[in-house]
Amino acid sequence: MNSTEKLAQKNQQALEGGGKERLAKQKENGRLTARERIDVLLDPGSFFEIDRFVTHRCTDFEMAQKKFLGDGVVTGFGTIDGRKVYVFSQDFTVFGGSLSGAVANKICKIMDLAVKAGCPLIGLNDSGGARIQEGVESLGGYAEIFWRNTQASGVIPQISVILGPCAGGAVYSPAITDFIFMVENTSYMFVTGPDVIKTVTHESVTKEELGGAHTHASKSGVCHFAYPNEVSTLNAVRELVAYLPANNLDVAPAAEKRDPSDRDCAKIAGVIPQNSRKPYDMRAVITDVVDDGRFFEVHKDFAGNMTVGFARLDGRTIGVIGNQPAVLAGCLDIDASTKAARFVRFCDAFNIPLLTFVDVPGFLPGTNQEFGGIIRHGAKLLYAYAEATVPKVAVITRKAYGGAYDVMSSKHIRADFNFAYPSAEIAVMGAEGAVNILYKREIEAAKDKDSERKKRIAEYEEVFANPYKAAELGYIDAVIEPAQTRRALCQAFDVLKSKRERGPARKHGNLPL
Ligand code: HXC
Repeated sequence: MNSTEKLAQKNQQALEGGGKERLAKQKENGRLTARERIDVLLDPGSFFEIDRFVTHRCTDFEMAQKKFLGDGVVTGFGTIDGRKVYVFSQDFTVFGGSLSGAVANKICKIMDLAVKAGCPLIGLNDSGGARIQEGVESLGGYAEIFWRNTQASGVIPQISVILGPCAGGAVYSPAITDFIFMVENTSYMFVTGPDVIKTVTHESVTKEELGGAHTHASKSGVCHFAYPNEVSTLNAVRELVAYLPANNLDVAPAAEKRDPSDRDCAKIAGVIPQNSRKPYDMRAVITDVVDDGRFFEVHKDFAGNMTVGFARLDGRTIGVIGNQPAVLAGCLDIDASTKAARFVRFCDAFNIPLLTFVDVPGFLPGTNQEFGGIIRHGAKLLYAYAEATVPKVAVITRKAYGGAYDVMSSKHIRADFNFAYPSAEIAVMGAEGAVNILYKREIEAAKDKDSERKKRIAEYEEVFANPYKAAELGYIDAVIEPAQTRRALCQAFDVLKSKRERGPARKHGNLPL
């Protein structure tokens, strides 16, 4: 065999991963192979593989006879829409994609390269966790990855895609990254699986209930996106990457500008009901404002009372945060606060301006919320907005009550521009609650309690159920008609393009956790 033939033979061997049988089984289980996934994710022909011939070094448990070229992961770089990204794709056909010392070294190598080059890192995870035969070497390998995930946080975007059963250590690296994608019915994430749970707590739970895509997308909030199959999931990763800069010193790529900046928003006035107790879908407001009506929603099925996601204005990426009056009247609760706080911090780390739509009656009352630590969790959102130095613009569409007014990108925590619709109501609380406190004695003493209450409510609404008190004080920069929203926002973000602001010098703040 000459040297060319030898290389060809080795390449062929590496492409076969854990062998034809295991590759066939992977397909039977409705999953793509590690290499097929890379092909779907990246631009055709752009993948450059490294470390193809790395093998594990374990000799215990007769492992010396069981070696596969490349071991349990395929690593390298390629492009998405022509922009460079680094990728690792765990190969379940090699010891269940478990993490050996060699696999950890391969992943760490491309993490280091991604940080040095300032490119996003995308991890395709399909792994049974620590390689049991390698013991502490595997645990050490995980910790090396976790450390790098932490160092890279806020420097390059890190995206995790869960494409199979991910257990133990295989879930903690994704947990540190910025976004987690899952596939319905074929991907799972848990720290301890159903069998261990049964033994320890005697609870019976299926794999799907415990750690399936639906559970993590809607209940735990661990995953940000869930799609019906691997191809749609990987295509969604491509879509997300298009909104993001390559690193924290870069700005997101500008898309072609087709939608005119001075276009009227014709739908908003019809979307927001006259009666301020009636719900509406904030997404209808957002899509009427942003370029081509495109809103790439993050965490869509979690904490529905808050909506967050990426969109573009004048071709430039913005992060959009909106209270959602259609769910829990748009109240702030624990999940909504942490969801929005994490999104705000991501955008701030990566120079993505923040646009906030406010319609919030306050924090959600109740023992569940108080015992669950709404004080601590609500503080995260307050902290995130106050800390963010990217351009911040807010539009109050209707209610901005109490502490939630302060939290939702108010002027006082340094939003750059605050706009309000004529329908805005800005006050410590709603009319009824306020009147019951302020005029309790007068209402009780009145002959006709009902009409006394109504009179007092009308007085209160006259003063506070509008944006003008706040505008008098300069807390609102402009009261705008809904139709003018896009025009006002395009102008505001345009003038803020050159904003440069830095927080005080310090090691790091102490975000309430
Ligand atoms: C070595 C492993 C492995 C592992 C699976 N395999 N997990 N080999 N170490 N952790 C191997 C199997 O022996 C099998 O080899 C092949 O991968 C496929 O596994 P199956 O069990 O046949 O597949 P499936 O039925 O689909 O089940 C997948 C699974 C299950 C749910 C992932 O294999 C499993 O529960 N694995 C163990 C998970 C686990 O407890 N990991 C350790 C977590 S502790 P053959 O040769 O038959 O193809 C951890 C600590 C880190 O990760 C903590 C850091 C914070």
